[in-house]
Amino acid sequence: MPEEFKIITNLFDVDNLQDINIYKSYDGYQALEKALQMSPDEVIETVQESGLAGRGGAWFSAGMKWSFMPKDAPVPSYLCVNADESEPGTFKDRQLLENNPHQLLEGAIIASYAIRAKAAYIYIRGEMWEELEMMEQCISQARDAGLVGKNILGSGFDLEVYTHPGAGAYICGEETGLMQSLEGKRAEPRVKPPFHAQKGIFDCPTTVNNVQTLSYVPHIINQGADWFKGIGSERYPGTFIFCLSGNVKKPGLFELEIGKATMRELIYDYAGGLYEGRELKAVIPGGASTAPMTPDQIDIVMDPSNFLLPGRGEFKGMFGTGGIIVMDDTVCMVDALLNLMNFFAHESCGQCTPCREGCPWTRDIVWRIEHGQGTAEDLDTLMEVADNVAGFLSPRYSTICLFGPAFSYPIQGFVETFRSEFEAHIEQGCCPIHQDKSIKVLG
Ligand SMILES: Cc1cc2nc3c(=O)[nH]c(=O)nc-3n(C[C@H](O)[C@H](O)[C@H](O)COP(=O)(O)O)c2cc1C
Repeated sequence: MPEEFKIITNLFDVDNLQDINIYKSYDGYQALEKALQMSPDEVIETVQESGLAGRGGAWFSAGMKWSFMPKDAPVPSYLCVNADESEPGTFKDRQLLENNPHQLLEGAIIASYAIRAKAAYIYIRGEMWEELEMMEQCISQARDAGLVGKNILGSGFDLEVYTHPGAGAYICGEETGLMQSLEGKRAEPRVKPPFHAQKGIFDCPTTVNNVQTLSYVPHIINQGADWFKGIGSERYPGTFIFCLSGNVKKPGLFELEIGKATMRELIYDYAGGLYEGRELKAVIPGGASTAPMTPDQIDIVMDPSNFLLPGRGEFKGMFGTGGIIVMDDTVCMVDALLNLMNFFAHESCGQCTPCREGCPWTRDIVWRIEHGQGTAEDLDTLMEVADNVAGFLSPRYSTICLFGPAFSYPIQGFVETFRSEFEAHIEQGCCPIHQDKSIKVLG
């Protein structure tokens, strides 16, 4: 089993790391000093060279995204830090905010310098108010230390950093929904183009990056692009924080080199395996919107390039956000899908008809099947509605944002993989699985 490789979680055990002096005693803000001696373009080149890809789920090159920002726009440019983390099963950004907030802040200031932003907004999920308060204290400490505000460290670079509480919806994490919400509107995603490097918040050039993505930036500036490129896989360098939850003995976070551990090692070695006498039934690899994998598929090496999405790899599935949810043989797959569909039906912003109508429609069908009221036609209707919203793992979708694919992929994945279990519910007129929903306490 490969060792954990800690870059951004390395200091998680240090007490009071939210105190800027303690963060500085671990070389904190040295990368910012170094970056300010480089030109903004050199910072972008370094990050692009390092191969850092966005960790918010889409895995797009961070440096390339920054390079899309205009160099001499007549209006201000902005950075938005996406700390809305609401994907079920995903809890890495929250831990990064709690355990090393200055690392994120330093990454955000460096990114802002690179894209020539005048202000950075840290948009933090509304439920995470303790993290928001802590981040405000960090910003204030950084301002006192001359790291935020006018003429940062005498470089001539000015930057304001603000926190903003999330509006309490999953869609606020979708980058254009986030920008709408920041502007005080309903978080209804925007049609692209225009892309937000041209027209983002307040109609000005904007970059949106995930918490984990930005947390790597100080390390890349300090240790260089080649150092980062030498870690992880060729196409997706670096590490990744995997979040394991569900029916495992030791749920938690594990930072590992990309492309080293298999899903089996994650489940059985890092997360302690399943409870005695239980067998693995399915595993959701990367958050609620990724289709489930079966036990015969878990020897796959966890590298986005092995997955059809985003890497065009051979495995017909999605890598996603690292939110791995393990399900043992006591779990009913219809009930598990119903649980996800309750979430999606609640969270659809309602702007696009396929999503507004499709979410509750498909949720109701799954509810009927789970409660023994399903009919023979239901499965075909379910798959047809899901396919009309988005072709399974295909670029064809009928909604403005990726919420449509996010709820239709799990439907298609669950039914394709566990069709016989759905049919058994319909044929027997009840749920045939004796589920164990008790809360497990480790002995
Ligand atoms: C419905 C939906 C919810 C999303 N929620 C989040 C989120 O909570 N945090 C996040 O970083 N990205 C989220 N994303 C992805 C963002 O739209 C965007 O790709 C990401 O913030 C870009 O950052 P990155 O390039 O650093 O990964 C979501 C996407 C969708 C479609």
